[in-house]
Amino acid sequence: MLFQIKSYLKFLWNSKNEHAVHSPFVFHLVTKCFYDTKSKPEYQVLKNYRNSLLENTNTIDVTDFGAGSKVFKSNTRQIAKIAKTAGISQKRADLLFRIVNYFQPSTILEIGTSLGLATSALALGARSVGTEAKITTLEGCPETANQCQLQLQNFNIKNVELVISEFSEYFKTINHQPSTINLIYFDGNHSKSATLEYFELLLPTVSNETVWIFDDIHWSLDMEEAWEIIKKHPKVTVTIDTFQWGIVFFRKEQLKEHFVIRV
Ligand SMILES: C[S@@+](CC[C@H](N)C(=O)[O-])C[C@H]1O[C@@H](n2cnc3c(N)ncnc32)[C@H](O)[C@@H]1O
Repeated sequence: MLFQIKSYLKFLWNSKNEHAVHSPFVFHLVTKCFYDTKSKPEYQVLKNYRNSLLENTNTIDVTDFGAGSKVFKSNTRQIAKIAKTAGISQKRADLLFRIVNYFQPSTILEIGTSLGLATSALALGARSVGTEAKITTLEGCPETANQCQLQLQNFNIKNVELVISEFSEYFKTINHQPSTINLIYFDGNHSKSATLEYFELLLPTVSNETVWIFDDIHWSLDMEEAWEIIKKHPKVTVTIDTFQWGIVFFRKEQLKEHFVIRV
């Protein structure tokens, strides 16, 4: 906790708003997407999706994958508690919706589904621009995945393929024939080694337009080290640190530049 407070103070000290951004690409993203304060009907759907989970007092038997899941001791967990502690916040879900809406990616991968709080934002973002992008989301715990599947059905969200698999096993299968993935949301195993392993395994899926979003880059010293290594990677050009997320671009026309932006 103390680590995160120190890290946040450092972030506040270094962070800027749109006025200090000279890159037109990043300026446009910040002003038209990050700081878009207009209300959207989809925000209410995302809120309803969350509330119905928060009201669900049923329990499920969870297969625990370790890092990123420090909160629980028992493997029998209440759905409401999982939704409260393991998922994306409402504010971030709305932002994720806007990011998908802004970039209009045609293929999306989410690493770490849980109950689908972020999956629903990705899916509604894709639906709202009429592209009906295909969203693949990965979850290793079968009972959590089943619960998510039910929830997606209840909300009539159909453009999602939920794959029950350990992450590395799934990446091995796609790496036989890598095809482009336009947006990846990394929200599974928040450790340095796993983050860097997934980064390397998924590099063959990158195109010039690809956007990668890493959750919890300041969660631990370990994750901050992983973020610094990612920023330095020769294929990475622009990065944006929003404290909660590290957003990565591979656009060759951009100079290598790192932004720290308050969202
Ligand atoms: C932080 S939660 C995802 C939250 C979700 N993106 C959201 O915003 O609601 C991470 C999920 O990844 C799963 N997970 C963690 N490590 C995994 C692994 N190595 N393979 C498969 N699933 C894993 C966990 O079971 C958990 O449900």
